[in-house]
Amino acid sequence: MAALEARGAVRHVEEIDQDAYEATGLMYRFIDEFGWLGGPAVVFDRVKVDGQWMESPVIANQFGRWEFDALAFGIDPDGLDQRQMYRATLAKLTELMDENGEWTTLQPAEVSTDQAPCKEVKVTGDDIDVTAFPFLQTNPADGGRYINTGNVVLEDPTHGRNVGTYRCQVKGPKKIAINPEPNQDGWKFLMGMKERGEPFAKAAVVLGAEPVVYAIGSSKAAGYGQDELAIAGGLKGKPINIVKCETSDIMVPADVEMVIEGEIPFDMEPEGPFGEMYGYIGRHKPENFYMNVTAITHRRNPIFINQFTGVTRHFMTAPLEVTASFKLRKIFPNFVGLHIALHIPGFCFVSIDKQGAGEGLAVGREVSKLLKISKITIVVDKDVDIHNQTEVLHTVGARWQPAPATHIVDEAPGMSGDPSTPKRGITSRVVIDATRQLPEEGGPQEFGKMNRECLVEGQPDIFERIDKKWSGLLQEWKQDP
Ligand SMILES: Cc1cc2nc3c(=O)[nH]c(=O)nc-3n(C[C@H](O)[C@H](O)[C@H](O)COP(=O)(O)O)c2cc1C
Repeated sequence: MAALEARGAVRHVEEIDQDAYEATGLMYRFIDEFGWLGGPAVVFDRVKVDGQWMESPVIANQFGRWEFDALAFGIDPDGLDQRQMYRATLAKLTELMDENGEWTTLQPAEVSTDQAPCKEVKVTGDDIDVTAFPFLQTNPADGGRYINTGNVVLEDPTHGRNVGTYRCQVKGPKKIAINPEPNQDGWKFLMGMKERGEPFAKAAVVLGAEPVVYAIGSSKAAGYGQDELAIAGGLKGKPINIVKCETSDIMVPADVEMVIEGEIPFDMEPEGPFGEMYGYIGRHKPENFYMNVTAITHRRNPIFINQFTGVTRHFMTAPLEVTASFKLRKIFPNFVGLHIALHIPGFCFVSIDKQGAGEGLAVGREVSKLLKISKITIVVDKDVDIHNQTEVLHTVGARWQPAPATHIVDEAPGMSGDPSTPKRGITSRVVIDATRQLPEEGGPQEFGKMNRECLVEGQPDIFERIDKKWSGLLQEWKQDP
C-alpha cells in the first residue's frame, strides 16, 4: 500500500455507509469511469456495518491494475506503461522457474510469537466475535457478510500444507463458512481427512497476507501438495515468516493482519448465495463446509481487505500465466504467450508463432484443457498484442472464419460461479483460431496485408516521428478526454 501511495494510486474515503451499499456503489463508479485496469486502490477509513461504525480501515481494488502486480513482484515501474510493467513481471517470474518448470522455493522461517505481528492481540473463548470486524456484505443479494480474501491454511500428514483463497461467509460470532469448490486442493485435503474418519479438520484463515503469498494462494501456480509458502518465499527472495497457531499446530504466515483459527467438522451447512466473479449472483449452496472458531489473533490496528467480487479485478494473474506458459511452451515450441483476461471472465488470449496448418486449433485445445478458467480460448498470431483486448477482438472480427477455424468441447470441468451452465461446475468450451488461415486450412489464397503494416513499410520511422513531433498534443488529449 505504501508503494501504491507513493505512486499516487490510492484514494481515501473517510467514512462510508455499507449498510446502504455505498462502498459497492463507489467501486462500480470507479470502474465505470476508469475501466477494470484503470481505477485506484481505495482505503475506506471508517465503515458502517450492521448499524455500527467500525474504525478499522478496509482496502479495496489493491490488485486492480497491472502496475500493482509489477510493484508486488519488485519491478521498477519507472518509464514503463502498464502493459510494459506487466510484461516485465512475466519475464521476471519466468526467470524464477527452472528448466523443469519448478519455481525457485525458499522454506518458510519459523518465528516466535513475540516476533509475529499477527499475534499482537489474542482473542479466545467467549471474547471471540467475528462479527465485530468490518467484513462486508458486498451486495444486497449476498447471503450475508463475507470474509472474501482469506487464505485458508490446512495441513495434512501426507500432502503437507495447502494455502487457498476461499470465501468464508460470516455465520455468527464463532462460526464462518469455508468454501473450497469440489476438487480444489483444499477440498481434497478436507475430503481426505473425512474419509480417514477424523472428527474435524484443524484450519486457519489468514487475512491480509502479503501480495506474493496471496497471489500464490489464489491461483494454480502451486501444484497439489506443493507448499504455497515455500514458492512465495522463492518468488520474494526471502523466506516467509511463519508462526504456530494458538489452538493447533498449524503454521501460518506471521506478518499478516489477522488469523482466524478453528475446526471444520464434516457435517455440512447451507451457504450463499454470493455475487460471483462473473458479475452474477451465484446459486445458494445447500451443503458447504463451515468452521467453528477457536481463536482470533490480530495486529493492534488491523487493516481489512474486501474483494468487491465481480466489480474489480480480484487477483494477480502473472504467476498463473507463467506456470501455464511453461507447460505449453514444452509441448508447442511455437507458443508465444497467453493472457487470462480476468476483466472479461471466461476469456483467454493466446499468441503463437504459427508455422503450419492446424497449429492454432492444436494449441487452443491444449489451453482449453489446461485452464479451467478458459471457456473461450482465442488464438492469434504473434503480431497481435494479447494484452490489448480491442486488438484481439478486432483480430477475431477480421481474421477468423467460424467454419472451420473453431473447435467446441461439449462437456468439461467449469468454474462454479459461471451463471450460464445448467449444471454447476460443468461447461462447454470453444476454441477460436483467429490466426491467419492458410489455404490448406480453408483460408484465402492470399491474406491481405494490414493497412498499418503497409504504412510502416513505406514510412519505417512514422510512429517515432509522430510521437516526437506531437507528444504534447497526444498527452494533452489523454489528460482531458
Ligand atoms: C478473491 C478470491 C476468492 C476466491 N474464492 C474462492 C472460493 O470461494 N472457492 C474456491 O474454490 N476458489 C476460490 N478462489 C480461487 C482459488 O483461490 C484458487 O483456485 C486457488 O488455486 C485455490 O487453491 P488450491 O488450488 O490450493 O485449492 C478465489 C480466488 C480469489 C482471488
